[in-house]
Amino acid sequence: MSYTGRFKVWRGDAGGGELQDFEVEVNEGEVVLDIIHRLQATQAHDLAVRWNCKAGKCGSCSAEINGRPRLMCMTRMSVFDESETVTVTPMRTFPVVRDLVTDVSFNYTKAREIPSFVPPPRLGPGEYRMQQEDVERSQEFRKCIECFLCQNVCHVVRDHEENKTAFAGPRFLMRMAELDMHPLDAAEETGLDRKTTAQDEHGLGYCNITKCCTEVCPEHIKITDNALIPLKERAADRKYDPLVWLGSVIRRR
Ligand code: SF4
Ligand code: F3S
Ligand code: FES
Repeated sequence: MSYTGRFKVWRGDAGGGELQDFEVEVNEGEVVLDIIHRLQATQAHDLAVRWNCKAGKCGSCSAEINGRPRLMCMTRMSVFDESETVTVTPMRTFPVVRDLVTDVSFNYTKAREIPSFVPPPRLGPGEYRMQQEDVERSQEFRKCIECFLCQNVCHVVRDHEENKTAFAGPRFLMRMAELDMHPLDAAEETGLDRKTTAQDEHGLGYCNITKCCTEVCPEHIKITDNALIPLKERAADRKYDPLVWLGSVIRRR
């Protein structure tokens, strides 16, 4: 079954733009990205959109659909009423390049600021052993497809451009939590305290647990409950209880 759907699509560039109205054919089983592609093919040949896999795995097609951050390729047209006007706009937190394409380099800058995994010095290749529960904990975080929808929705930077230098955002605080929970990470033996660094240098304290990041994550990662809150608790233990710090050093010996 087909129908003619009504759409508003933001068109413009860094200098400004506006929503433009379109009427586009919609067919059964289609997703919003299909509509954007049909629009490109039939009415707006120079419409800029970023995408790669059309399978919810590359994280490229992030946008805001009726104001909600979503992947265009994973948003079925059947979730909207046929009479509803569907509005597609670029992610609001990042600078627009053109039309639906934003400059997400903020996220790559933040990624580079996180010290990487420190291999345990007394173990050689093939000697690493981990409990299954530790493996599973990391695996949840590693489902991330780097769509940056969580980074886009978090109010700390969405409404406050001035916070961007001091706040890594949920995706990268989650990465810090993953490394801090990793039983083989030897960062502390090199003098790097990931908890304190997350708090003091990457803005963990700005997060007030609104959980919007978790709500929009297409991989259903429990970013807040499983990464950010535990990292906050560990950072608080470290800050306020010197015995906890001493105990953790002794346990590592
Ligand atoms: Fe996207 Fe989820 Fe990864 Fe955030 S944590 S970048 S929402 S997949
Ligand atoms: Fe932002 Fe997620 Fe915290 S949306 S405030 S990082 S819980
Ligand atoms: Fe790859 Fe949508 S095109 S996630």
